Amino acid sequence: MKKEDVVVLAIESSCDETAAAVVVNGREVLSNIIASQIDVHKIYGGVVPEIASRKHIEKINQVIEEALSGAGRTLEDMDAICVTYGPGLVGALLVGVGTAKALAYAAGKPLVGVHHIEGHICANYIANPELEPPFLCLVASGGHSHLVIVRDYGEYEILGRTRDDAAGEAFDKVARAIGLGYPGGPAIDRLSKEGDPDAIEFPRASIEGAPYDFSFSGVKSAVLNYINGCKMKQIDYRTADIAASFQKAVVDVLTDHTMLAARDYGIRTISIAGGVACNGALRESMSRACDDRGYRFYMPTPLLCTDNAAMIGAAGYYEYRKGVRHGLDLNAVPNLKLG
Ligand code: KG4
Ligand code: ZN
Repeated sequence: MKKEDVVVLAIESSCDETAAAVVVNGREVLSNIIASQIDVHKIYGGVVPEIASRKHIEKINQVIEEALSGAGRTLEDMDAICVTYGPGLVGALLVGVGTAKALAYAAGKPLVGVHHIEGHICANYIANPELEPPFLCLVASGGHSHLVIVRDYGEYEILGRTRDDAAGEAFDKVARAIGLGYPGGPAIDRLSKEGDPDAIEFPRASIEGAPYDFSFSGVKSAVLNYINGCKMKQIDYRTADIAASFQKAVVDVLTDHTMLAARDYGIRTISIAGGVACNGALRESMSRACDDRGYRFYMPTPLLCTDNAAMIGAAGYYEYRKGVRHGLDLNAVPNLKLG
């Protein structure tokens, strides 16, 4: 540990994971504690905001204590407290923001509010020490699907976004339609391995005049129509084939749009981020497409793709280095924009 090292405590509570981490210089993770609420929300088939907020309140102090003790540090040792302040569920965000403000005030430490999507992107810095901007990042999660150029640390240019459902949302909705539980992404990923991805031709949507935007509501409706059609005609259908064919349609679009943007903008370093970046088929497809074109390809480990606080510590570090400091009037911003 050098004197100039910057150590931050990071807190994330934007959805259904209560998480805290200790990160050094934005790249080295000393601890990364995640208390997942999935088992509770599973019963309802999706995240129930009110329950999420209450569970965050129950867990947050314990998760922070574990993060500090796991790192062998105290609050006193921290150079800053970083916290996700949007986008996300307002009640859930407020638990993290309120706690971070209390800690920053009590310990007299700087407070740095972090954008959740910026966190997802910065997960790539942890897994790949040599990665530096500029690069192109595909962010695909339960709430967002963005194509972003990372111009510099903390400097983003959004090229495209989803017009309707996020990629992860489409996975979750299709999973529900074929009788798989919440969250649907991992379940579809698993079931797809037993199915034929070419069994059913589901649509791959492009938006005229906006080649880097996404739309996933069409493919979701096509899956629902396919199932209803089979039921009406009393034809048997294989859920594994539906899962694999749906997954391929989504992965094709995500890969194609990313490759198109890379070519058009002359960017040869590509990365992926967000919960959907755990998807085996997407990781393979992007890695192959980049290999074919001689692009460098980076992806976080699956644990760093889904919501966690280490990624907030990485993003928070670069914000801190830029001089970003928030006051104790920091509020949760559920629809916070990036860039
Ligand atoms: O990034 P994340 O943890 O939370 C948000 O910020 O939204 O992403 C969660 C989303 C869920 O929709 C989940 O179904 C999806 O990521 N997901 C996956 C996989 N693992 C998680 N989607 C496809 N394949 C996976 N293996
Ligand atoms: Zn997320």
